Order: sequence, then C-alpha cells, then structure tokens
Amino acid sequence: MAKANVHFDTMKNWSDEDLTALLDTADLLKSKNTRNTSAFGKVLGLLFFNPSLRTRVSFEVAAAHFGATTSIISPGQGSWTLETRTGAVMDGNKTEHIKEAVQVLSRYCDAIGVRAFSTLRDRDADESEFILNQIIQYADVPVINLESAMEHPCQGMADWMTFRQLMGKQNLKEHKLVLTWAPHPSALPQAVPLSVLEAGIRAGLQVTLACPEEMIPSTQYMHRFNQLANIGGIPLIIEKKQSKALSGADIVYAKSWASGLVYENPLLEKQLRTKTYRNWTLDGEKMSLTNQARFMHCLPVRRNVVVTDHVLDAASAAHIQQAENRLHVQKAILMKLWNLSF
Ligand code: CP
Repeated sequence: MAKANVHFDTMKNWSDEDLTALLDTADLLKSKNTRNTSAFGKVLGLLFFNPSLRTRVSFEVAAAHFGATTSIISPGQGSWTLETRTGAVMDGNKTEHIKEAVQVLSRYCDAIGVRAFSTLRDRDADESEFILNQIIQYADVPVINLESAMEHPCQGMADWMTFRQLMGKQNLKEHKLVLTWAPHPSALPQAVPLSVLEAGIRAGLQVTLACPEEMIPSTQYMHRFNQLANIGGIPLIIEKKQSKALSGADIVYAKSWASGLVYENPLLEKQLRTKTYRNWTLDGEKMSLTNQARFMHCLPVRRNVVVTDHVLDAASAAHIQQAENRLHVQKAILMKLWNLSF
C-alpha cells in the first residue's frame, strides 16, 4: 500500500489558502446541512489514548454524514494496551507496540485519527510530537490529529470558523481576540492554547495573550507565533495584567493550561495554577471591561473555576456554536483527505 502524503496533523503544514478553502467548504457544509454517500464503504479509525466527548462524537457524525463508518480504538479499554517507546523491552503492562498496531489499522481503515495528549513529564518527547510522528511514520493512510502533545488543529479550525462567524470574515483585522489563561485543578496540555493562537494570528485578528509570566506557553511555539504575527503586520501582544488585556476585546477565549514548570517543579506549578493565580477566573465584572466581547471556550469547562456561570450562560457566549463547528470543519477535512465531492 502506498504511503499517504497528506495528513491533517498540524496547521503548520497547510497554507493559509488551503485552510481558508477548508473553512469555506465548512461554511457551505453547515449552510446546506450536507449529507450524502460519497464516502460509502470507507472506514475512519479513531485511536483515543485520552478521553473525549466532542472530538469522538463529531468525527463519528461527520463520517456518518458521508456514508462512512468509524472504528473506535481505546487502548486498554476493550483493545490492547499500546507501547509507544522506541526500543522498549515490553515486559511490563503494555501488550502491543504502536508500530504493529498502526500498520495493521492502515490495512483496515481509510484514515486514522489519533488523540495522544502531552505527557507533561518529558518536554522533549512532547515538543517533538513523539507519538503523533511515530503514527504518521507507520501509517499508510491519512492521519488526522485529534489533539496531540502540542496541537489541536481540528479545534483551531473550528475556532477560526467561529471567529469568522462572530466578527465577519472580511474584517477580522479590526477585531481583538484575547486568549486568557484560567486556573484549574488539573495540569492541562498546551495544545489548545497553541492552536488558538495560531488560528487567531492566521485569521488576521489582533491577538493578545493574557497570562501570568510563568504560564507563557512553549518558547519554541511562541517564537514561531511572534514571527507569524510580525509577517502579518499585527504583533502578538503578551499581557500579564488580565484587566488590561481585556480592555477593548471583541472575543475573549478562556482556557487553562499548565505552566512549563510542570516538567521541572510540578508542586510549584500546581501551587501557581490553583492558588497563586486563582483570581484569574473569568467573570462578568471582567467581561464588562471588554467591547461587549463574545465568549469562547473549547470545552469541557470547569464552571466557576475557569469561568463563572454568569459568563457561560450569557447571550454573548459562543462556546456551543464553537463546538458545533467542530463537526463542519471535520467534514471539510474528510472531504479533502478522501477527495469527496458534494
Ligand atoms: N474540545 C475538545 O476537543 O473536546 P473533547 O476533549 O471532548 O473531544
């Protein structure tokens, strides 16, 4: 079987033109509520190392809307536990290596989606996308990133689609997006915030990242985003005072993520995330500093920790619309990878 040379693994490998074409297709799919049998007989394998509600169901529904079926693989929960380490002596609790598993799945499936979160223990493994890249190496069919260590490109695309719907796709450069860090009891990966920043910058929005100094995400990614923003002519602003960042915002995107300190000093990281910066919860008073901003969050969200009930239940909240858009962008991605027509 020939190796697939097109994957939806990272937004970085797709041009602005290609991504906006996907968004235009997604808009059309949404407006027409498209359902057909153009992918009848195809099977989408969905390999989940971590839990999911939206990603799992929206991909199952997307495949069904084209007449395709899905096969869900949850290692250790009805399928074998999977080893990911290269050269591992597999005398522990892992039954099968991804090297065999992914090659076998490639013989059954027409594309493979994979969710493999960051370890938050090994920075080099996370930043090198160790698991995702092995899966791409072993797969003979297109691979779709369902949230890897450092990126959630399907979420980024749904967010970009939502920015266009909320602000109008012609004049995004006139609008300010604030991605604000929020407290959380669990250390969460940086994949979503990194994809939000990439989507916001590439959409042409005025992007401000609001977070405490210790929460500034991966240096490697921030370096690329600064370059990307400067090329686009709208520098990326980093603001450590949340109230100052929120002033004049048109869209406020709240999200928690773990500080990079999680790799070296997890106890300090937890202290910062749960106590020192506990007052970063987004509430109605903070939203009143904005330009009557719309609210976004990727979900799942911890009510009254990340953001208050007041903000989530207000008419300005767009997080459900945003979640719906996952379905439409993923249908557009399947159409592209499988060369489907309307
Ligand atoms: N936003 C998102 O990816 O949701 P799930 O984790 O539920 O898939």
